[in-house]
Amino acid sequence: MQTVSNISALREQINQWRQSGLKIGFVPTMGNLHAGHISLVTEAKKHADKIVVSIFVNPMQFGANEDIEAYPRTLADDQAKLIAEGADLLFTPTPEMIYPKGLDKQSFVEVPNVSEGYCGESRPGHFRGVSTVVCKLFNLVQPDVACFGLKDYQQVQVIQTMVEDLSMPIDIIPVATKREASGLAMSSRNNYLTPEEKAIAPTLNQQMQWLVEAIKSAPKEDTDFIGLAKQASKAIDEAGMKTDYIHVCHARTLNPASDDDTNLVILAAAHCGKARLIDNVQFSRD
Ligand code: PAJ
Repeated sequence: MQTVSNISALREQINQWRQSGLKIGFVPTMGNLHAGHISLVTEAKKHADKIVVSIFVNPMQFGANEDIEAYPRTLADDQAKLIAEGADLLFTPTPEMIYPKGLDKQSFVEVPNVSEGYCGESRPGHFRGVSTVVCKLFNLVQPDVACFGLKDYQQVQVIQTMVEDLSMPIDIIPVATKREASGLAMSSRNNYLTPEEKAIAPTLNQQMQWLVEAIKSAPKEDTDFIGLAKQASKAIDEAGMKTDYIHVCHARTLNPASDDDTNLVILAAAHCGKARLIDNVQFSRD
């Protein structure tokens, strides 16, 4: 696997592959890779001949109150994991290469509706940063397919909408969430949990599973989505976390669920010690 940090070397290799008629698969990340990230590489290999992974801790998607310096950087370990999984090229640009004019003078991509609410509300500007950097990375890597984890459900909807709205010729492949045996969704942020917090963190997913069952057994023509979500939120708080939000939504538009919707998703975020955990459960009701 080659590691390339410079844009012209990246473009040169991509052009060579394209001229040979090879299909390119892309997995954008911020590094500190775990089994969830690696499962995206495994999936990408099923759809493409050459796999490009990027590691870029994107300053545009961090809020002023979020400590980008504290984000874990573990390049040597990440490289070893990617080599073991058979990635072909690792792209590791610096912020100066991606944002030579600085963040304020840079054009941006904003995806309306699906970027609003939930994590978009708790983290203002976050999704603008995500869609802008992913658009730039797509233009640099020019992939045929790109894999994104369903762990970040709203992010997948934002990227899918951007690709549709702006006619980008890229297939977006959503990949199932990798979990610990406890049900806790794998995340770089789990490193911030103490052993005690790690023991209570699975309550988030357990309460979401409870909510799925409660909705499925509620009267279909008159389901109290908000009241049931409140009960789950209370149980999460009683376990020792602090619920940021828990909502039942239409799985594609992310609008609040209504009785007619059959394809639903529960989106939730909760603070557990220093970590902000997010999770989601998609299900159908017919
Ligand atoms: P990051 O948090 O590093 O995640 C990179 C990719 O790995 C995302 O598509 C994310 O959804 C996926 N992922 C993370 N944990 C996962 C898990 N437990 N199971 C399956 N997939 C998982 O998401 C980002 O970086 C950034 O916002 C990025 C898209 C790279 C733009 O900067």
